[in-house]
Amino acid sequence: MKSEESNKKVLVVGASGFLGKKILKNLEKESGLSIRALSRKERKPSENSKIEWVIGDMLDRDSLTSALDGIDIVISSANGYMKENLNADLVGNKNLIEIAKIQNIKKFIFISIVACEHSPEVPHFHAKKISEDLLISSGIPYISLRAPAFLDQENDYIADAVKKGKFYGVGDASTQWSYVYTEDIASYVAKATIHPKEDIVNTIIDLGWKDGPKSQEELKELISSITK
Ligand SMILES: NC(=O)c1ccc[n+]([C@@H]2O[C@H](COP(=O)([O-])OP(=O)(O)OC[C@H]3O[C@@H](n4cnc5c(N)ncnc54)[C@H](OP(=O)(O)O)[C@@H]3O)[C@@H](O)[C@H]2O)c1
Repeated sequence: MKSEESNKKVLVVGASGFLGKKILKNLEKESGLSIRALSRKERKPSENSKIEWVIGDMLDRDSLTSALDGIDIVISSANGYMKENLNADLVGNKNLIEIAKIQNIKKFIFISIVACEHSPEVPHFHAKKISEDLLISSGIPYISLRAPAFLDQENDYIADAVKKGKFYGVGDASTQWSYVYTEDIASYVAKATIHPKEDIVNTIIDLGWKDGPKSQEELKELISSITK
């Protein structure tokens, strides 16, 4: 039986990004959902896609008001810090949350960063914490999915090298990090979107491996044992 949530209209902000594209694919598997995707550039839907692309900028409140018209659920995977600057992370998310509140959005799924409150000196961690706090105080029903470092990247140098029998570690060998595979985050976002109950609403959920963080040394061993 379909849940009421799977008949809702969803707006994905950051939909053209590395994770955003995967979120769209996972949402498209949910047949009842109507999906709108926001980008600052004109984007054409691929053949047979049911996605409605709209042009909008998180720094332009009027464009957000239009994009949010008729929307039930907002997903924000956008960021500016990786390729541009922190404007989208700070001003953009503030605009999005404020307009979502005015438009009476029923659920706001926010992609955050694990343990972001512990490093106020790291600008993009701090920006996530500020946005999470705004979201919580807005009163909009929210789910903050806090991702650790992505194991795969747009330029998937780790997987490409592993296929050639090499592992490129980042940083020192012994510090333990949490990682997540973006395909997994995208599937969790889709699950959170259609989840019919209130039990995960107004929660911050840490993503990562069940058996905890891994050092580069441990990752190397793990990958070797799987690929041998
Ligand atoms: N990489 C990691 O290890 C890591 C770890 C934890 C959490 N995260 C989080 O994961 C999320 C997804 O990351 P990603 O790698 O998919 O990002 P990405 O590929 O850099 O994509 C960024 C997205 O943000 C949108 N955007 C930027 N400025 C905007 C603006 N002013 N108005 C509207 N849209 C704007 C871009 O859309 P257009 O250019 O089409 O407008 C694009 O879709 C981010 O929130 C990031 O903080 C990443």
